[in-house]
Amino acid sequence: MVRFIVATALAALSSVALTQSIPSCGPNQPCPAETPCCSAYGQCGVGAYCLGGCDSKHSHKLDSCVPAPTCQNKNYKFDTLDSVMAIDEYLGDSTKADWVASGKPAIYNKGLLMTMAQDTVGTLLATTHYVWYGKISAKMTTSQGRGVVTAFIMMSDVKDEIDFEFIGVDLGKAQSNYYHQGVTVYTNSANLTVSNGNTVEQEHEYTIDWTPDQITWSIDGAEMRTVKKADTWNATANSFYYPQTPARVMLSLWPAGLPTNEEGTINWAGGVIDWNSNAMQNGYYYARVSEVNVECYDPPSGANVQGDKSYTYTDVAATNDTVKIGNDLVTLASFYATGENPKEDPHASASGSAASPSMTSAPETVPGMSGGGNRGDESGAGGADAGADPQASGAAGGDGSAPASGGGNGGFTQGGNTGVNTAAKVGGSTLAVLVAFMALLFL
Ligand SMILES: *[C@@H]1O[C@H](CO)[C@@H](O)[C@H](O)[C@H]1NC(C)=O
Ligand SMILES: *[C@@H]1O[C@H](CO)[C@@H](O)[C@H](O)[C@H]1NC(C)=O
Ligand SMILES: *[C@@H]1O[C@H](CO)[C@@H](O)[C@H](O)[C@H]1NC(C)=O
Repeated sequence: MVRFIVATALAALSSVALTQSIPSCGPNQPCPAETPCCSAYGQCGVGAYCLGGCDSKHSHKLDSCVPAPTCQNKNYKFDTLDSVMAIDEYLGDSTKADWVASGKPAIYNKGLLMTMAQDTVGTLLATTHYVWYGKISAKMTTSQGRGVVTAFIMMSDVKDEIDFEFIGVDLGKAQSNYYHQGVTVYTNSANLTVSNGNTVEQEHEYTIDWTPDQITWSIDGAEMRTVKKADTWNATANSFYYPQTPARVMLSLWPAGLPTNEEGTINWAGGVIDWNSNAMQNGYYYARVSEVNVECYDPPSGANVQGDKSYTYTDVAATNDTVKIGNDLVTLASFYATGENPKEDPHASASGSAASPSMTSAPETVPGMSGGGNRGDESGAGGADAGADPQASGAAGGDGSAPASGGGNGGFTQGGNTGVNTAAKVGGSTLAVLVAFMALLFL
């Protein structure tokens, strides 16, 4: 399992001490009623914690997480950032944004740059709509350099995962990988050769074709690898270790080679990152995505279809047969609302109190953004700015001057038991998604 120890770096960079501990969640440890939603980082909160990435398996209740918008057939272009919303602005209305971002995306030459400046941890984008089987392509160039990883992945809220990952020292290869519910199986990885030029200088089209029965990874239209569900049977677990739950498209650029990361992660990424690299321009590393295309497949035969707008889980098993397609879309009224309580909005009442009366202390509201407890309080300072808002409205209640305090203090485990051996061998996996967490703490 992926274990992320960020304590020292955060302690050094953060001038604000951790004032409250954020409840954590994971196997046999669901979130408490007051902060019911379990984030992708294994921490409990409200608001954006209940949106994309909210893990129904480890939340207070199955309906603590907001229903996931269903697959949208779409060709996403990046002439502007209009379709990209900062994670601390998005309340779940998928008609308002196609992508939710942490870090600093920028537009350059009709493409979206994911940037990573010194002492930040890059940029992470995720679609607001989920895909429950489909053909997903990204036309992109990667970044380069020791410790620099570019990723194009599918990630479900219960951590079923399908990856293309690009290591910045290995420009002729894409690493393909898949996981089921976050269980790291090292033999799942395979290297794919990129022909017709490297991954940095030439744009290539990377495609994940995901059906209920198999996954095929293609590069520039050429099929490079196929994994059949039938071959993923795990007799120990008595289940298919196959990605089988609705997943978001994610794109990221992240510093796997931070000195504070696990040695195995740093080695996998080609070494410790160099913040004076020639590969940096205008002060940052970058990867450029010009287009993403999503073609949705029909729901699997036998699926529990009661509508066509939302995916929810009917059981904590979170397997293919526990996904319900319904019409239960919800937009949160504020960053204090949850799936169980979507209308919660402290500012709608005359009291003016920052937090809900039912809450004993200010809850965390945006995953990876500590101090997010002030989110939604117009007078409040302290919400860190995700920096992704093209309008830079400062609506986050912060001007970026408030340092983020550390949700990660004391270390941070994703998914449970970690052995030294496994840690030393750890690859990309769920680390890609941890970017958001780290990014915001450093901003
Ligand atoms: C993929 O390539 C990397 C770097 O060349 C190597 O370290 C790794 O072992 C390879 N993975 C597989 C599964 O062959
Ligand atoms: C099978 O499942 C067990 C229990 O989750 C896990 O430890 C093991 O790595 C899995 N093996 C494979 C090959 O998927
Ligand atoms: C779930 O997976 C099982 C095993 O592959 C399959 O028999 C069943 O049809 C699937 N159900 C759905 C709804 O996809």
